[in-house]
Amino acid sequence: MCGIIGYTGSDAAVPVLLDGLKHLEYRGYDSAGIAIQTDAGLTMIKTSGKVDNLAAKAAVTEGLEGVCGIGHTRWATHGTPNDINAHPHMSADGRFAIVHNGIIENYLELKKDLEKKGIVFASETDTEVIVQLLAYYYDGDVRRSLMRTIRRLEGSYAIAVLCAEDPGTVYAARMSSPLIVGLGSGENFFASDITALIQHTKDVIDLEDGETAEIRVSGVRIFDRYGAETKREPRHILWDIAAAEKGGYPHFMLKEIMEQPQALQATLEPRIKNGRIHLDEVELDMAKFNRILITACGSAYHAGCVGRLVIESLCRIPVEVEVASEFRYRNAVIDEKTLVIVISQSGETADTIAALKEGKEKGASTLAICNVVGSSIAKLADQVIYTWAGPEIAVATTKGYVTQLIVLDLFAVWAAEKLGRLDEKTYGKLVKEIRALPSKAQRALDLSSGVGRLAKSYHEKSSLFFIGRNLDYAVAMEGSLKLKEISYLHSEAYAAGELKHGTIALIEPGRLVVALCCCERLYEKTASNIEQVKARGADVLAVAPESNRKIYGEADHVLQVPDTADLFEPVIEIIPLQLLAYYVALENGCDIDKPKNLAKSVTVE
Ligand code: AGP
Repeated sequence: MCGIIGYTGSDAAVPVLLDGLKHLEYRGYDSAGIAIQTDAGLTMIKTSGKVDNLAAKAAVTEGLEGVCGIGHTRWATHGTPNDINAHPHMSADGRFAIVHNGIIENYLELKKDLEKKGIVFASETDTEVIVQLLAYYYDGDVRRSLMRTIRRLEGSYAIAVLCAEDPGTVYAARMSSPLIVGLGSGENFFASDITALIQHTKDVIDLEDGETAEIRVSGVRIFDRYGAETKREPRHILWDIAAAEKGGYPHFMLKEIMEQPQALQATLEPRIKNGRIHLDEVELDMAKFNRILITACGSAYHAGCVGRLVIESLCRIPVEVEVASEFRYRNAVIDEKTLVIVISQSGETADTIAALKEGKEKGASTLAICNVVGSSIAKLADQVIYTWAGPEIAVATTKGYVTQLIVLDLFAVWAAEKLGRLDEKTYGKLVKEIRALPSKAQRALDLSSGVGRLAKSYHEKSSLFFIGRNLDYAVAMEGSLKLKEISYLHSEAYAAGELKHGTIALIEPGRLVVALCCCERLYEKTASNIEQVKARGADVLAVAPESNRKIYGEADHVLQVPDTADLFEPVIEIIPLQLLAYYVALENGCDIDKPKNLAKSVTVE
């Protein structure tokens, strides 16, 4: 939800922090701030708006010289995103400054206690109670006081703390919010995410829940929840700074759309050997399960909707799919014969984490499909299949989503074979189809060169419908979400056959209907739904396989995609819809990588 960074070294801290915050901005961007240890004590600047506003303010602020500091970019949860509520927050005595990602659930109770003791609060945030409590408990030993403080906190936090009396040290603590330590040479870091540090170091340690840590130029110390020092081997990051930069594209989203063939290939390659699928990371006795429950949020949920149809069709096991925010409170009937699959790009989505815990508590086996190594979800699940999409920066997921789809496809074929549901010939054919997906994704990108022109005629539409059947409907949901979240146009995804049961009343002359027609076996059915909306004056934009010539007699415009086996077509079909959303948002002058009100990683309920 927010991005935090801490630095200690010999370079000027301000540029290091600002640069790190720019890379973390995808996590939240309504206000930002930094605090620096200077000769005059702790100096802080903060401002509403994006990190560029903060950089402009830093450029004209004197007295920010220092080599140790903390920074924050915020997605507001408590209090409006103004200068006062922006982080860092300082204790009333000016001794401590803190940045925080997470939510302190018992902050009102703690705040009341502290106010009774005469402490005056400056902001409306939950975060300020942490720093005021820390100052209250301070006994000359920062770490001991910090441990005492966090024992009183309920909720989630990744925090970094500066103390005016402890130059060159940044303290941190973590509970249910991501925080890594970056190990540099003569400098060390904390950050929410490696993208903030990759240009300084590729060696990181993931802090665990309940741990506290200290970084100094001389080294890093990590302590467990009881205060005992622990030693941990760093992990080495394999990708480099180029993966976290725009690489010549105007937006991360466009770059990530274009990277999809490579992301699919990277996810696939280690898992297909000699024509067979190897999920070496998975130890599951598929015969043990009598049902599968897939749960996730947003686009990851849409990937789950595709997964349900593919797994059910190949494995013949009942599969349910549900948004994690509903599943977590449903008291679902699941047991040790249920396999719960959670899907998450970030691995930090609060509702998905809660759903995963719920599944585990009820005795189900759990499998995560996740893009971030060492994330909370990856750590919690019994088994993990990683999507090797690389860092995804744009808030709207693209390569994250398609790599989730290809993992679900691999899993479905792998599981069906384990269950003895596939003969050799069909198995070989399916593997061949999956292997062709990266190059078909490239072809889909090549065929989509006209999408920008179409966006020019569609960007002023006020309300759109995405329709499709079966897998096309699952893709329609994702296409509709992409458009909504980055272009702010209202759109709805509808099962094509369901329109006539009410919603068709909204079809009127000029209404744009995007009809997904890649499910070959259902094409004639969708075609008749197209006729129904055309008869009421709708403009129809169809997405259809190259071989489908009939569609030109039905739709006003056609976006072609390469022919693909029905089961795997979602991987390809979504590509022109991602580009449509992108170009419509571009026409409308929207902030594509950082859409309003959103954040990349939703770590609150
Ligand atoms: C998609 O474009 C969204 N930004 C959002 O729906 C996202 O997929 C959802 O918040 C889940 O995130 P996760 O995959 O990181 O768990």
